[in-house]
Amino acid sequence: MTLATPPTSSPAGADAASDRLRHAYIETIGCQMNVYDSERMLESLSRAGYRRTDRPDDADLIVINSCSVRERAEHKMISMIGGYRTLKEHNPELVLAVSGCVASQEGEKLLRRAPSLDLVLGPDQVTQIGELVGRVRDGRAEGARVRPVEVDFVDRHTYTFATPEAPQDGRVTSFITVMKGCNKFCSFCIVPMTRGREVSKPSADIVTEVEALVRAGVREVTLLGQNVNSYGKDRMARDGSGELDFAGLIAAVAGVDGLERIRFTTSHPMDCSDRLIAAFAEQPKLMPYFHLPIQSGSERVLRMMRRRTVVAEYEARIASLRSLRPDLAMSTDIIVGFPGETEDDFAETMGLIERVGFASIFSFAYSPRPGTAAARIDDDVPKAVKKRRLTELQALQAEITARWMAGFEGQEVEVLFEGPSTAHAAGEESAARMARIGMLPQLMGRTPQNTKVNVETDDYFALRDWPGRLGRVRIDHVGRNSLTGTLLHLLP
Ligand code: SAH
Ligand code: SF4
Ligand code: F3S
Repeated sequence: MTLATPPTSSPAGADAASDRLRHAYIETIGCQMNVYDSERMLESLSRAGYRRTDRPDDADLIVINSCSVRERAEHKMISMIGGYRTLKEHNPELVLAVSGCVASQEGEKLLRRAPSLDLVLGPDQVTQIGELVGRVRDGRAEGARVRPVEVDFVDRHTYTFATPEAPQDGRVTSFITVMKGCNKFCSFCIVPMTRGREVSKPSADIVTEVEALVRAGVREVTLLGQNVNSYGKDRMARDGSGELDFAGLIAAVAGVDGLERIRFTTSHPMDCSDRLIAAFAEQPKLMPYFHLPIQSGSERVLRMMRRRTVVAEYEARIASLRSLRPDLAMSTDIIVGFPGETEDDFAETMGLIERVGFASIFSFAYSPRPGTAAARIDDDVPKAVKKRRLTELQALQAEITARWMAGFEGQEVEVLFEGPSTAHAAGEESAARMARIGMLPQLMGRTPQNTKVNVETDDYFALRDWPGRLGRVRIDHVGRNSLTGTLLHLLP
């Protein structure tokens, strides 16, 4: 749907050829899905003659790739539009677009809320952004204000995934979307409304994509989806195609030569199959880190959340996982202050957190979202109570995380080096200059459990030679969120 009838838009390439090079700035809010989608938008825009810029004030196009999982994320987007509106006053050529989950949820309404907005596109339209921006510009060229709104879900039987271009930035680790959407409809969650139903990418395409990533230097992939562990179910049900399930997909990806590590995120406990648990023992490339959101330790609250999860079963699954993979790090998501959550319910959550001993948790205060089942229930836990519960939960977890991290002290771990540590990233000093000023290279990598490790070395060529390599590292110091160590040797 489009608010004004667009004049026939010129093909993206022709637009690019006839115009000067333009710059696009994308602000990404929200989860890795959005990070991945932003990259696909940049690819589409590059075909339309846009180059990426990191400076909004230098941009001819600003896209806010928005998130609506909690109210605060949505507000962030609205205030950003307010900020960019001023840029538009200085540069009337500027095109302002909103993509992502708020775009999907609000559609046309956003144009009324934000008069400076030129374009609204949903997650299913990211690959068309080049053409959509072309429509806005063509309209302007003819003196009309064209404000396209394209947010409808593509029918899941005809949906096709974008084929990403191989990255040129020398990255060691990369995300790869293996499915989109969600069929779970947890009562608090807006994602099924903003991302539509589950569609799995064909496994052969995923393997081809991973092969291309490895050729570009990638050594670790994270398989991405709202519920990756229900991967394949939609395809199996649809065409009996003999498609793989998620454990089968991991095995297929593990078969790619040159790939060292596989991770995935995120999963629902109800799809945590025995086959997936077994994969942690059978697939050495599958890293021992598992993010498995439970949301609450109270059965009563879980029922109201429509999570279809039983706490005792959840803990039993973690116990089997740990018996197969003793070095496994677990993490989870928790929502406090769901409508009707009592002090007893909250105490059950605290109990679960104590018993499991997660390496880390992501915790949130409940935020009612439009169109969800829970939004119809009174949001009756006072803000101050939500805040107090969140603080208590986070304090408890901070102790547990500190104990878990302390276990690394003096240990030897295997690290995949990614690049300069953040402290050094900004400088990108040359080896010669660093030697002259007596500054030692510092590299960042991750343990199998995904914990950051910083390693300083007197090998001045480490920044060139180590990224993409695995090394044995002795941990000398344990920080709050990261480790520091010494390289013992690089692996062949
Ligand atoms: N598909 C993932 C979750 C994606 S949303 C899963 O099922 O685990 C990420 C997290 O945001 C959720 O796990 C939940 O903890 C939190 N969240 C989602 N909706 C929320 C809401 N309305 N209020 C507060 N937190 C919410
Ligand atoms: Fe949201 Fe639940 Fe789907 Fe996760 S599983 S995206 S929490 S509806
Ligand atoms: Fe946010 Fe949408 Fe991701 S709501 S968390 S950007 S799926």
